Amino acid sequence: MRRPLFVFAAGLSLLLTACVAEPAAVSPTPLASETLAALPERPAVEFRSADSVSIPGLRTVTDGDNGSLVYTVIPQIEGYDRLNERLRDVREQDTRDVVDTISAGGAASRGSVNVSWRTLGSAPRIVGFLISSIVSPGASTAVRERSVWYDAAEDRLLGWRDLVRREDHDAVVDDVLAQLRRYVTQPDLASAQDILRSGDPAVGFTATGDLVLQFDEYDVAAGAEGAPAFAVSVSESSLTASGKAAREATLRPQPLEAAPEPPPVPERVDCRVAKCVALTFDDGPSGRTTPRLLDLLEREDVHATFFVLGTQAQAYPKILRRIAADGHEIGNHSWSHPDLTRLDPEDALSQMRRTSRAIEKATGRAPDLLRPPYGARDKKLDALARGDGYAEVLWSIDTRDWENHSPKKIIAAAKKAKRGAIILMHDIHADTVDAVPGVVAALRKKGFTLVTVSDLLGTTQAGKRYYGRY
Ligand code: NI
Repeated sequence: MRRPLFVFAAGLSLLLTACVAEPAAVSPTPLASETLAALPERPAVEFRSADSVSIPGLRTVTDGDNGSLVYTVIPQIEGYDRLNERLRDVREQDTRDVVDTISAGGAASRGSVNVSWRTLGSAPRIVGFLISSIVSPGASTAVRERSVWYDAAEDRLLGWRDLVRREDHDAVVDDVLAQLRRYVTQPDLASAQDILRSGDPAVGFTATGDLVLQFDEYDVAAGAEGAPAFAVSVSESSLTASGKAAREATLRPQPLEAAPEPPPVPERVDCRVAKCVALTFDDGPSGRTTPRLLDLLEREDVHATFFVLGTQAQAYPKILRRIAADGHEIGNHSWSHPDLTRLDPEDALSQMRRTSRAIEKATGRAPDLLRPPYGARDKKLDALARGDGYAEVLWSIDTRDWENHSPKKIIAAAKKAKRGAIILMHDIHADTVDAVPGVVAALRKKGFTLVTVSDLLGTTQAGKRYYGRY
């Protein structure tokens, strides 16, 4: 009986000795209750809400079961599909497991889910929501909060790293880690750093405009710490344009602008029945020639496909919007017209992606057709196109309008089209625009229906090449 006691006492004294001998090693242990007392109290940090503002087009979607074990409410805003999808995803992620076990019945059916929301900020171009989920899979309860910020002008979802300039990310991370060390018992700094660097902590602003970053319960500290939130003072110059807009939307909320009307879906022609050919116009839009071409096509009631350059799309977003609104199709012709097969894959992808972003920004819709400049393609480019979801559209009739500058020759070339042809022209040349009424008349005389590339081809496959419909 004595022996174990002795061992215990010896062990204790060794432990005490060790502590005395190494005062520097103050790694927190459950015994060191002084450590707890030594921590200053963590300042209460709260997201400022913008609940007072009314948001046009906002409706709430409620999901519940009769037993009230599941009750979720999330907002949706008319016309902002990307935002709405994200909000639904957040609800799904937080509730799926519990809903599954509850609906499976049995012992787990005592669980419950409650999802609610509030507005963090609202302005003509930006809106932010906080989605709070209280999930009880059984006896325990977990609260999770997710922020969803959405830049309506760019149709883009935003995390905290989109609100703060890249060069200031480190300073924000360091500030939060320092606060964790200062105020939180046994913080998991490695997890905190991971979450800040690549995760999606809830983000918003305080009533005084400080940035708020909030972790989930258990993610960076013991459950007793709750969901630690920290305020970081950020100067105006540290915020991105979206960050400034989000802060303004929090402090001085205004109604969000209504979503733009989607362009009307043009009447589809069935090219399995009709004798179709597709007119395509490359290298624009041009402020000088494209509007006149659009007038002509409108008068003739012809829908065509425009393979635009990113540089031009960026310069003429209004013309691009009109192209889409008039029922024409828009495809990607690279940013600055290089031979994509001669570029590194990253550069080629960047040429394609920047262009699609510019098109999407102007029209609300990203293209899924790619016409490689010069028609230059190879297996590598096919793979890139496939990866990014583009069908490659080449042509079967080259009018050589860029060379001959002759409406007569352009019309003669176009007339050689067979059923299913894709005809290549360039809307940046005045002579080409001059030729268009003649081209349309000649093709109609041969019994052709003029359609967009997508109408001609029907369903296309990413990474596949199309020269026409044969
Ligand atoms: Ni071109």
